[in-house]
Amino acid sequence: MSKIRLGVNIDHVATIRNARGERYPDPLRAAKAAIDYGADSVTVHLREDRRHINDNDLKKIIKLKRIPVNLEIAPTLEMTRIALRNPPDFICIVPEKREEITTEGGLNLKRNKKHLSKMISLLKKRKIRVSVFIEPKIQDIKLAKDLDADCIEIHTGKICRLINKKRNYSSEIKKINKAIMFANSINLETHAGHGLTFASAKVLKNLKGIKEFNIGHFIVSESVFYGLEKVIKRFKRIIGS
Ligand code: PXP
Repeated sequence: MSKIRLGVNIDHVATIRNARGERYPDPLRAAKAAIDYGADSVTVHLREDRRHINDNDLKKIIKLKRIPVNLEIAPTLEMTRIALRNPPDFICIVPEKREEITTEGGLNLKRNKKHLSKMISLLKKRKIRVSVFIEPKIQDIKLAKDLDADCIEIHTGKICRLINKKRNYSSEIKKINKAIMFANSINLETHAGHGLTFASAKVLKNLKGIKEFNIGHFIVSESVFYGLEKVIKRFKRIIGS
């Protein structure tokens, strides 16, 4: 079985920084650490409202040539321009609603077909690998191929929620498996992301044909507990108690 790549999404490092308006924790430091600790790429979502990383973070992360960057953007003119000005290695086109807490579902490829086709062609001319974030639906996979995307990323939010709640996920996993097999049969590289935890990654890694996982919120959340011991002990040393 070929190795599955891990893309580490560092958006929520920026969320913590932005909550206090400080300069730490620095997403650039997180990007470097992710790669040092074995991530295959770093994912960042430049949202319209800049609630995670901002334009300056993006510039600095892209400048670090040793880090393969996967930039998630909405299919807008503004984001296309920014991506062409700061070309990352990979782009994942995602839907975006201002009022949502996180990316709630896959792209509506049918509704945005004309615009997406132009956007994908512009990005591919700059040698950027383009992926589209979609639901595990055969019709959407066919459309992704028609649009000339290099890859699809399957939204795993629903199955991850079912696994977290210890509910039956058999019909959802069948749907995802069918989608991966179909995508692979038409030469579309397949990725998976959203809501992944240790438990759901253990389930999904058994499906044949996933080449990349993109994981963010859980990695940042779990890192708090992995790191608390070291940070508290260091403070104790500093204050001499
Ligand atoms: N993949 C895509 C396309 C996403 O939009 C997101 C969320 O920004 C992720 C992966 C990561 O999701 P999570 O933070 O829930 O792991």
